[in-house]
Amino acid sequence: MNRNITDIENSNQTERQLYFMEMCKEWAAKQQEKLGRPLTACVNTFGCQMNAHDSEKIIGILEKIGYTMIEDEKADFVIYNTCTVRENANLKVYGRLGYLKKLKSQNPHMMIALCGCMMQETAVVEKIKKSYKFVDIIFGTHNIFKLAELMQARIDSKGMIIDIWKDTAEIVEDLPSERKHKFKAGVNIMYGCNNFCTYCIVPYVRGRERSRNPKDIIREIEALVADGVVEIMLLGQNVNSYGKNLEHPVTFAQLLQEIEKIEGLERIRFMTSHPKDLSDELIAVMRDSKKICNHLHLPVQCGSSRLLKIMNRRYTKEQYLELVDKIKKAVPNISLTTDIIVGFPGETEEDFQETLDVVRKVRYESAYTFIYSKRTGTPAAKMEEQVPEDVIKDRFDRLLKEIQTISAELSGRDTGKVEKVLVEEINSQDPDFVTGRLTNNVLVHFKGSSDLIGKIANVRLAESKGFYYMGELAEEEQ
Ligand code: SAH
Ligand code: SF4
Ligand code: F3S
Repeated sequence: MNRNITDIENSNQTERQLYFMEMCKEWAAKQQEKLGRPLTACVNTFGCQMNAHDSEKIIGILEKIGYTMIEDEKADFVIYNTCTVRENANLKVYGRLGYLKKLKSQNPHMMIALCGCMMQETAVVEKIKKSYKFVDIIFGTHNIFKLAELMQARIDSKGMIIDIWKDTAEIVEDLPSERKHKFKAGVNIMYGCNNFCTYCIVPYVRGRERSRNPKDIIREIEALVADGVVEIMLLGQNVNSYGKNLEHPVTFAQLLQEIEKIEGLERIRFMTSHPKDLSDELIAVMRDSKKICNHLHLPVQCGSSRLLKIMNRRYTKEQYLELVDKIKKAVPNISLTTDIIVGFPGETEEDFQETLDVVRKVRYESAYTFIYSKRTGTPAAKMEEQVPEDVIKDRFDRLLKEIQTISAELSGRDTGKVEKVLVEEINSQDPDFVTGRLTNNVLVHFKGSSDLIGKIANVRLAESKGFYYMGELAEEEQ
């Protein structure tokens, strides 16, 4: 079923929102006049890359209204874009709300909005309604585009504005967005997740999978490239299932081939890849591409086939390792990274040994390791046999050690080579140096000036410093 709305409906929604942005802009201009200073706003992001990209959309709308963005929460408008993937993410938000209350008592003009994944949970919204009455606006993951409309509603009323959608089929294109870097940008290719891994809250707070139309994605990237972007990160919870629900289905590999053709675009990254959907077609495209980066984030979560089944990951340890072999054969120098959960309910020492075995066999460049966190509403939360804390801690430490050992062994393997570096910024320690990234994401520092920022330079990786290189600008092409 095609769940995308038609272009006509889409352009109506875009126009409607631009209208609300204009209204808010008039209000903001009056406020600034009254206060005799610019209105400031601060957006605090708590979650993943997708969450961070949503924040760029929020900032785009706020700048259009006339806010000056600042890092400090002593601002006229503070927005928390929340995450709920693990419990400590929620606790962090509650902790900081007390501080915001204090700030608001000092600045009565202050507006506070909460949005993001945590707001998609009914219990959270109930708690905020009851105990955090000073919050002005609450919205969710599906209606970020409505921010100006919600602000207008708050300006017109006295109470808290709450607008949470359970799910949506709507994708609103062509709204403002403000990116952090001039030369690299995130691009959503799909929203939501259909996988329901039994530990994970994301499908409940991000709704069902829906893909953007390829032509909208290409148009956005072309515009970004025209504006100076050379590297893009394609974003989705499971990019490998991109396009399945479109009216004219397109595979992720086909989308990548189209994106590859965009002139001026130099680097393509994507995340996240679910192992169960990673096709041979995609491996071939990665092998033949000149622009897809030499890095693949391939979350394994756990090495035990028994637990993977209970996690509903839909691959076995053997299938995962086979896949890794295929990828390594096709793209020999690829850098692999992963996510691993320790202490999933019922995890035994044998299960954990299987995880260590995968880590040793794959040899990840780096890995994000998480202690299992019980998320109310997910099937795993009801599972018995929760693993005791001290056992988890011990396994977690052993896992980390293994990962670090391998990481250290892998680091420095490109010493002496001349590689392409996308220069990102002036070095924070020494202004005569710049810092950039290799296609496998490893950092390189070398002598250079700010005119290199956003450019790709040929750099000799002179010396390995463990997790980064010190380099020298190489004269010509290798
Ligand atoms: N869509 C991505 C991951 C999104 S969440 C994927 O499928 O790989 C990012 C990571 O958070 C997951 O890969 C997982 O390792 C971790 N995570 C998710 N739920 C968790 C939980 N309940 N406890 C601990 N870690 C969790
Ligand atoms: Fe969560 Fe699994 Fe979906 Fe990733 S694929 S977001 S881990 S349910
Ligand atoms: Fe991302 Fe956290 Fe939501 S990981 S999708 S912000 S729950």
